[in-house]
Amino acid sequence: MSTQNASGRQRRSVQSLLSMKKAGEKIVMLTAYDYQIGSILEASEVDIILVGDSVANVFMGLRDTLPVTMENMLYHTRAVTRAVRSVPVIGDMPFLSFQVSIDETVRNAGRFLKEAGAGGVKLEGASDFCLAAIRRIIDAGIPVMGHIGLTPQSHNILGGYKVQGKTVKAAQKLLADAEKLQEAGVFSLVLENIPAEVATEITKRLKIPTIGIGAGSECDGQVLVINDILGLSGDFKPPFARRYADLKSTISDAVGRFCGDVREGKFPAEDETSHLSEKNLRDFKKKIEK
Ligand code: KIV
Repeated sequence: MSTQNASGRQRRSVQSLLSMKKAGEKIVMLTAYDYQIGSILEASEVDIILVGDSVANVFMGLRDTLPVTMENMLYHTRAVTRAVRSVPVIGDMPFLSFQVSIDETVRNAGRFLKEAGAGGVKLEGASDFCLAAIRRIIDAGIPVMGHIGLTPQSHNILGGYKVQGKTVKAAQKLLADAEKLQEAGVFSLVLENIPAEVATEITKRLKIPTIGIGAGSECDGQVLVINDILGLSGDFKPPFARRYADLKSTISDAVGRFCGDVREGKFPAEDETSHLSEKNLRDFKKKIEK
């Protein structure tokens, strides 16, 4: 299931995540939206990469994920898959790409694999329509990752971005939805912003791995948005995210020093400059002096 790639790294597949759950190994997922971060993740130890529709907030400067299109998602997924060979890249199906009809949903899911090199798709929700669509996508040979709890595409119905599943009834519904999604064939399930006790119970009951974000430590794996761990998101930090770097300060500092060097004539230096050969310089001057 896992083979070695050219650099000796264990190649991951969506099936190898199931083996990881069985072996009790934690699964690490991060988002990526471009080639350069894709290259860094390719050389890292992450197990799976999500091209999330969070691209809306962290890349496109949008207030929510609703305006993101299939074309936006395919563009970013292509950029990432150009860099990534060792782990599956999952494309996040944007709002209205999987709600209109099952045929259109299967076609859109297929575009992630056919046109962007993804290894599977993720979609939010567990409605009867979603479950039927998921079965058909899987029938077409496309691995599907589920996503329940806080599903940001439904924030208008959920009343914002708050923790889901806090009442007994809502927690039972999450458990039932998780079981239905497993039954429909998803290869793993994102649990977003739900109480740890509910995520733990879902994780215990399911054979497929759960990947938590704001769902406590007992999930089979964890995912965060790369911009949040890198400290690129400015003052905005979801309470469940942890910052591992402060790239915003690093970038601001680099930009400030560049501005200073240009204004003080310190950039470019001699070794950052090319020159004509002595002969070409003489000939050039003769030509322009005529
Ligand atoms: O869009 C996204 O980045 C996501 C993850 C937070 C799971 O859906």
